[in-house]
Amino acid sequence: MTKKYTVALLPGDGIGPELAAEAVKVLRAVESVSDVAFDIQTGDFGGSAYFKHGHSFPEATKQLCDKADAILKGPIGLSFEESKKIPVDEQPERGALLPLRKRFNTFANFRPVYLPPELAHFSPLKPHVVEGGIDIMMIRELVGGLYFGKKIRSVNEAGKRQVIEHLEYDEDQIKAIMHVAFQEAMGRKKVLHNVHKSNVLKSSVLWNEVLEEVATEYPEVEVKQIIVDAAATALVINPRQFDVMVMENMFGDILSDLGGGILGSLGLMPSACVGPEKAYYEPSHGSAPDIAGKGIANPYSMLGSVAMMLDKSFGLKTESRKIWDAMRHVFGAGITTADLRDPEGKLTIIKTAEFGDKVVEAITK
Ligand code: IPM
Ligand code: MN
Repeated sequence: MTKKYTVALLPGDGIGPELAAEAVKVLRAVESVSDVAFDIQTGDFGGSAYFKHGHSFPEATKQLCDKADAILKGPIGLSFEESKKIPVDEQPERGALLPLRKRFNTFANFRPVYLPPELAHFSPLKPHVVEGGIDIMMIRELVGGLYFGKKIRSVNEAGKRQVIEHLEYDEDQIKAIMHVAFQEAMGRKKVLHNVHKSNVLKSSVLWNEVLEEVATEYPEVEVKQIIVDAAATALVINPRQFDVMVMENMFGDILSDLGGGILGSLGLMPSACVGPEKAYYEPSHGSAPDIAGKGIANPYSMLGSVAMMLDKSFGLKTESRKIWDAMRHVFGAGITTADLRDPEGKLTIIKTAEFGDKVVEAITK
């Protein structure tokens, strides 16, 4: 019997619709080689939704997401100038993305920083640093910390404008993300780097306490402690020492972009945002309004997000693998997209849709 899955597709802003079109192509290709069917339902989300409906996360889109088995989301965000046309709380990040994360409590954000050995030339790091490839899984807590803590804007006693922003976590939130991290480590090299700042932040002290408690349930996993600033340096000097890394929301936002830098482009950074009941999938990068509509965006992060969805939400491991292998095959054949390094000038630069076509070809051949 054909397995059926409903996917809420939120193309988003900027290059989002171009990436979404490739995602649909690839899902259709998967249907053609496997006994699965995807009911893809598109919803407005982000700045584009605001200009159409007056809300960046419209009610109809919420319903669509509620009903879907998984959500596939393109990047959102507007140029600085466009953003100013929207009330602060309706701007796509605060008005759509954070509410989406909250609605489905997608606390576990998986951000693979992955470059197979034969694609190491895309990295701006010296060949000896990335030789053998990069394979890190960054796990970022996604619904706590500074992002969701209380925010108070006021005027202090001296008449100066002031702001207080809380970094909030309770022990259950920390416990939940730690279990995710330890389980991921169990499935990989059984080494977990805990990224923190317990020399300064009390939140990190609690974070580390809970980590030690959860660690007793995973005696096989070796825990390595690293302070967040040192982690930034270490990621550049010797990224291959890392396998699974766990960190709070804001640290994860910053270090995962550093991950994109190691690979050579945020265009190589897919992600999964997993909650207790539902997950959504998105590229880790922004909507790149400057190149929107030109057809030159790299669809890898979007297609990688599709692959992660097939695996994590639908248990379609073989199909997921097919997408990864297809992308590796396309890049391995001397092909690149405009965002990536081409150190010897020997690679053929192709456009967004051509990349999608080649991935489809590799999946279906
Ligand atoms: C990310 C993005 C978002 C974040 C923005 C768009 C709010 O940078 O997913 O990393 O900061 O989490
Ligand atoms: Mn970010």
